[in-house]
Amino acid sequence: MAEQTQLSFEGNAYRAKPGSYNAALTEVGRGTPMGELLRRYWHPVGLVEHATQTPREVRMLGEDLVLFRDKKGRVGLVHARCCHRGTTLYYGRVEDDGIRCCYHGWLFDFEGRCLDQPCEPGGGQNRDRIRQPWYPVKEQYGLIFAYMGPPEKIPVLPRYDCLEVMDEGEFLDTDDTSIGSGGAVVVPCNWLQHWENVVDPFHVPILHGTFSGTQFTPTMNMMPAVKFEYSSLGVKVVSDRVLPDGRKFKRVTEVCMPTLRVVPNPLVGKFGRVETIGWTVPIDDTHYRIYTAGRVTQKGVMLPRGKDAATVKSWGEMSAGERRARPNDYEAQVGQGPITLHSEEHLASSDQGIGMLRRMLSRELQAVAEGRDPIGVSFEESAAPIVFEAGQHIVE
Ligand code: FES
Ligand SMILES: [Fe+2]
Repeated sequence: MAEQTQLSFEGNAYRAKPGSYNAALTEVGRGTPMGELLRRYWHPVGLVEHATQTPREVRMLGEDLVLFRDKKGRVGLVHARCCHRGTTLYYGRVEDDGIRCCYHGWLFDFEGRCLDQPCEPGGGQNRDRIRQPWYPVKEQYGLIFAYMGPPEKIPVLPRYDCLEVMDEGEFLDTDDTSIGSGGAVVVPCNWLQHWENVVDPFHVPILHGTFSGTQFTPTMNMMPAVKFEYSSLGVKVVSDRVLPDGRKFKRVTEVCMPTLRVVPNPLVGKFGRVETIGWTVPIDDTHYRIYTAGRVTQKGVMLPRGKDAATVKSWGEMSAGERRARPNDYEAQVGQGPITLHSEEHLASSDQGIGMLRRMLSRELQAVAEGRDPIGVSFEESAAPIVFEAGQHIVE
């Protein structure tokens, strides 16, 4: 071993203070500041094909739920714990009118009404007095959306122009994995770590370019000139690059409330408005998942989550050693820990987008705490679809 001599103990780890995280920005349970902010919006809780006559476990914003579709076609999302004596309705049986608990057979409809108590006289004479806790759901873009907030504040389910207006040959596709999660479905870290990554354009040429080899395209390996701006729904990032042939390439990515990642395809296959949007869905404080909907011309190729260029393996097939050698978003973000320790960060000038995103979230937490409606919440049924600026363009 080479001899090393300590000249000074400045920065010595023994003096480091214990780290802490910003709970208001990251924790999503009921009654927490962020939990209440997020509960003012609709969130996807599954693909439409996940709602079937086989009950499905859904963990969302720290709550354990069960999703099902009764034999009349109505979708129910109810608390997993049966309101009788608490077993999970995951083991329940779906019938014409609802889901029947496996333990004592109480039957609940899609809005939690108790329709039958077979062990009680007369099928339960007082069964109208109880209700299995439930949430309203809607189907749109191939997804099941749920609203888990105060009923008197229920907003309309927003529509998005980029998912409504198809170009020639395009159709809508939906997926529950994402490039940003490395192909994994459930990612074991806080949702904000992923969302902040969307307004971090500088990691692209480093992590996805020089460090791990080209993970997107050589174009994306170039260090961009970047501007960050607030939009009406969140924060947008404008990255300019000059292509080798002298043309100017402008790329706009956005984060929009509540958890949207609006990111043009980093493979830069074609120019134009953004093709896909992704919902960064907090499962609980230390897990998230992504649902993506987008315009495609071919089924199942919406996201550039193909094989790693060097190993020719998908993320799931790569060994720990291969992932160590060629880290991607999953490694970088899960590597920050279950909830990153904000007290230990040293934000620099390239983190301007992160600072703006956190300030925007803090403003909206304040709005909800003061009884106001957060941005992007609309009660107007006839509101036009939301148009994003996100896209990639050649500018003259
Ligand atoms: S615990 Fe569900 S019916 Fe008894
Ligand atoms: Fe990335």
